[in-house]
Amino acid sequence: MTRAVERGGLVRDASSRTLELGAGTGHNLPRYTDAVTELVLTEPDPHMARRLRKRLDAEPPPPPSVEVVEAPAELPFDRASDSVVSTLVLCSVDAPGQAVAEIVRVLKPGGRL
Ligand SMILES: C[S@@+](CC[C@H](N)C(=O)[O-])C[C@H]1O[C@@H](n2cnc3c(N)ncnc32)[C@H](O)[C@@H]1O
Repeated sequence: MTRAVERGGLVRDASSRTLELGAGTGHNLPRYTDAVTELVLTEPDPHMARRLRKRLDAEPPPPPSVEVVEAPAELPFDRASDSVVSTLVLCSVDAPGQAVAEIVRVLKPGGRL
């Protein structure tokens, strides 16, 4: 219950172009609002990514454009983001400092993590 409330509180503030790191099987998906215009979901584990794509097919979320990228958070992303979402991820990343540096690099000025 608490975790669901915390997820909702975090994700509902995302807007415009949003990057979610380590999206897992997509527990955050129903919590996005249509303020998000473009959602890029990264997930490095192919098994999780497969389940994520299945969930997207079965329950399409509000953002009109959703893309799944099989990549870890430490890798450079080529497009700037207005919001970055990361829930229960940085504790499992091999190089958290590198992942945080990448988040800072990819966020537009005034963007939100
Ligand atoms: C505990 S799950 C959380 C999943 C989802 N974010 C959620 O809140 O339900 C941790 C996720 O982090 C992903 N992960 C592990 N190492 C990662 C990395 N280096 N970069 C991005 N994601 C990673 C795992 O594959 C897994 O999907």
